[in-house]
Amino acid sequence: MKKDDYYPIIFKRKSIRNYDLNPLDNNILKEISEEFDNLIPLYSNINTEIKIISTEDVKQRFMKKAPHYLAVFSDTSEGYLTNVGFMLQQMDLFFSSNGIGSCWQGIPIPKAEILNGSNLKFIILMAFGKPLDPLYRDSMNEFKRNPIEKISKVTGADNLLEAAKLAPSATNSQPWFFTGNDSAINVYSIKPNFLKAMVVNKYIPIDVGISIYHLKVAAEHFGKTTEIIFDKDEKKDSPKGYTYYATLKFSME
Ligand SMILES: Cc1cc2nc3c(=O)[nH]c(=O)nc-3n(C[C@H](O)[C@H](O)[C@H](O)COP(=O)(O)O)c2cc1C
Repeated sequence: MKKDDYYPIIFKRKSIRNYDLNPLDNNILKEISEEFDNLIPLYSNINTEIKIISTEDVKQRFMKKAPHYLAVFSDTSEGYLTNVGFMLQQMDLFFSSNGIGSCWQGIPIPKAEILNGSNLKFIILMAFGKPLDPLYRDSMNEFKRNPIEKISKVTGADNLLEAAKLAPSATNSQPWFFTGNDSAINVYSIKPNFLKAMVVNKYIPIDVGISIYHLKVAAEHFGKTTEIIFDKDEKKDSPKGYTYYATLKFSME
């Protein structure tokens, strides 16, 4: 299985919800689990665990079945949900670039044996398998996303923000906001309204982690190296009503 520049994949990927329920070949499953070791964490101090589980291990809760799922567990150190978003989006793009369908799944949960099988807290599932729908979008028009003007006050880095904008998010809520310029981008989340908050609050930090990963992929595609830091001053200066997450600092390679 290949792992190259994910940038082009960001512009055509989509969530897959219809799967051939026959299991993938064992060699492929082995290669998928080998990829777990290559995932880059956002915070290297956080302990995570990923397991491949099957349809029978999951309470689908009205969601369509998939032949396989990644079940993600984590300790609950500060930033753990954002870290999971950042790490698991690497798997979403890995699947998509290797002809495998995938979809983040916040609603289904693993059965008790799986939950009890880890010392860490269960966070989320990602369904995957052979897609029965087309794997890619035919055109950019198929993306339902907010325009850059709505999610950013960044100057001079639209090429990076285009990739952040296309990140998947729970219920497509797109809770991210960005400030800065082409050498440093600050990442925030917006506060959802009261009703929306009941559904999406748990997922907002995960969604933001996903968009941070898309920013990193784009920066590297354009030849920049990225350092991701937590800047106490930026946190202090956060625009009103926004929650600060991280700052990406870019330098030319
Ligand atoms: C944290 C998270 C949880 C999600 N949970 C579900 C889910 O339970 N069921 C589902 O069908 N899609 C789920 N999705 C997929 C989103 O609905 C989807 O990413 C969004 O609508 C954008 O569409 P796209 O991924 O095709 O670009 C989830 C996505 C994220 C990031």
